[in-house]
Amino acid sequence: MSRYLLAIDQGTTSSKVLLVNRLGRIEDMVQHDFMQHYPHPGWVEHNPDDLWQTVLSGCRQLMQEHQLNASDIIGIGITNQRETSLVWDRQSGEPVYKAIVWQDRRTADYCQQLAHQDPTLEAQLQARTGLLLDPYFSASKIRWLLDNVEHARNRAEAGELLFGTVDSYLLWKLTGGRRHATDATNASRTLLFNIHDQQWDPFLLRLFGIPPDMLPQVLDCAADFGTTQPNWLGGEIPILAMAGDQQAALVGQGCFKSGMAKSTYGTGCFLMLNTGNRALNSRHRLLTTLAYRLNGQVTFALEGSIFMAGATIQWLRDGVHFIQQADESEQLACIVPIDHGVTLVPAFTGLGAPYWDPDARGAILGLTRDTGIGEIVSAALQSVCYQTKDLQKAMEADGVRPVALRVDGGMVVNNWLMQFLADMLGAPVQRSQHKETTALGIAYLAGLQAGVFDSLEHIDKLWQSDREFRPLLPKQERDKLYQKWQEAVKRVQT
Ligand code: G3P
Repeated sequence: MSRYLLAIDQGTTSSKVLLVNRLGRIEDMVQHDFMQHYPHPGWVEHNPDDLWQTVLSGCRQLMQEHQLNASDIIGIGITNQRETSLVWDRQSGEPVYKAIVWQDRRTADYCQQLAHQDPTLEAQLQARTGLLLDPYFSASKIRWLLDNVEHARNRAEAGELLFGTVDSYLLWKLTGGRRHATDATNASRTLLFNIHDQQWDPFLLRLFGIPPDMLPQVLDCAADFGTTQPNWLGGEIPILAMAGDQQAALVGQGCFKSGMAKSTYGTGCFLMLNTGNRALNSRHRLLTTLAYRLNGQVTFALEGSIFMAGATIQWLRDGVHFIQQADESEQLACIVPIDHGVTLVPAFTGLGAPYWDPDARGAILGLTRDTGIGEIVSAALQSVCYQTKDLQKAMEADGVRPVALRVDGGMVVNNWLMQFLADMLGAPVQRSQHKETTALGIAYLAGLQAGVFDSLEHIDKLWQSDREFRPLLPKQERDKLYQKWQEAVKRVQT
């Protein structure tokens, strides 16, 4: 009997591959970082071959180290950085350009122009896709590729080119070009997919000038996505699940009931609240998105996306060298008072939800002669919590309040940060015992398709709490701090 599920988590800064056993436990993991390309201010690109090679070598390495054959693997699940867009040749598989990453702002002017031409457009987009008119999503990135890469538009119109988000590209590579498909959660992030009728939307395809033939087939998150080309991993392994990384984390966190929410603190921060079979139309600039689609049944979520969370700490380490290692941030924050007067607004690549201001830029406010590295590091950590508070407030204004917040991602090992988060939210913060909830989520979905797990209730039982942080800060102090943040944000908005 096959023994393991293989979970591929292709993220913004690294590719991870995990071996998960039939009990839903992680046996081992490999992780490979790859180069980020910033050819111009505000542009972010990945080399498609880096994404593919880090994934393939990760799978091979794990299988070799554990002496596994293809027949030992029950199936593969793929989860990925969402919105990042690739276009490649249908025959040769050659990408026409690098992958344009979700953080990339090159199409900000184009989006603004569209909004200017038709002030009702954003409302129409929101009604169809649940999203907003922002360069974050795939549609304007694909359009840019077709308009700026030589001959791309003609080739696309002649049916020679394919579009895919990273899941789709990896699937195409793994199956040796036999399958061009995506799942409904990834499709729901393109700004081309109608989340109500679950189809690519002809109006949106016309608006962005995208030939329908380029688009992948959209399947459920747990489905038959094909099998690996035998050369890659020594045999045909079924690919059984695909989902965007934030959606996979929601599954990994066991947030299956309406009102349950998770927040993942990786490069950015993504707070997602399960709203059940209700596609709640946000009036406060949150996104309506798919939580998951299983057996054709859609579960919706409300999402707040913040572009800079862990990336701010990365900047402190690699950009300005205030710290040498990320974990120093906790020690430094512990030794300065929380009301130190410094506010850092990490609008390095604009502001995401609920502001959606692509032209805003970062700022550090409140500096005095006695400000030291500790205060700035603390302000950077606090900015992550203030931004989460912004999302909580927007959700409340939309009429929903998360019952509790389950957290995951690299930053959640920082106890100081988790306590300040609970203080700022005035609500309990539950840290999962598993750090790799995204990968686990996709392994669970693959296991569901394979019959290893029989239901979402079964998966729900696999969730375990590591620690719960309860709010301790008096409301008055919380409000005072948060007000300072709101004033600082106003100063960087354009
Ligand atoms: O929407 C972008 C998101 O999916 C990226 O996630 O974990 O790669 O930062 P991550």
